[in-house]
Amino acid sequence: MKKAYNPQDKYFQKAKDEGYRARSAYKLDAIQKKFHLISAGDRVLDLGAAPGSFMQLVGRIVGDSGIVIGIDLQSIKPFRKSNMKAYEGDIFDENIYEKIGVFEFDVITSDLAPATTGIKSVDAGKSFQLNEQVLEVAKIHLKKGGHVVMKAFPGENHSELIRLTKKQFKTVKPFVPDAVRKSSREVYIVGINKLLA
Ligand SMILES: C[S@@+](CC[C@H](N)C(=O)[O-])C[C@H]1O[C@@H](n2cnc3c(N)ncnc32)[C@H](O)[C@@H]1O
Repeated sequence: MKKAYNPQDKYFQKAKDEGYRARSAYKLDAIQKKFHLISAGDRVLDLGAAPGSFMQLVGRIVGDSGIVIGIDLQSIKPFRKSNMKAYEGDIFDENIYEKIGVFEFDVITSDLAPATTGIKSVDAGKSFQLNEQVLEVAKIHLKKGGHVVMKAFPGENHSELIRLTKKQFKTVKPFVPDAVRKSSREVYIVGINKLLA
């Protein structure tokens, strides 16, 4: 029998106990534990960052010498640390990248999720478009040798997303963290070592 959806599961409780704004932090935490993509002092751009739990985790990893910039359509409650900045905006809007004041990043993370319709093929298509844009942003704003993490909802364009990611990164791996709900189809695509500057 399929387990009932429990919004207040163990990761929800853990997030509350450990001061994270959302349980999503544990998805990135599992990715970091497996792939070690982010280091102290890194500059990290987080796309689709609200309410900010990825940013909180990244802030803890990069420390005071790093930089964490988040962008989301929704406003994000400001952080106390001056090296963590959140911007309200659309990742498709070119102007937003001028505003953030950092040109090149070591790592780009994306937990972008489209407003879902419930129609799997439509939602997967929208997620693909978001990830195409993540890869465009990575082309310009990710340093050579940098890494990307992006959330995907596999659909008919999934193999195209993997192909596009492989064009830009030396190694490409799919990963489903334990914190992804069993009812969800989401998978994270990890691109390691960007090939070109
Ligand atoms: C699952 S939430 C991110 C949770 C976040 N990683 C955290 O840990 O708190 C996905 C976010 O993607 C954002 N989003 C979707 N399309 C976007 C776009 N075109 N530009 C910016 N943000 C977008 C949504 O507003 C939503 O806040």
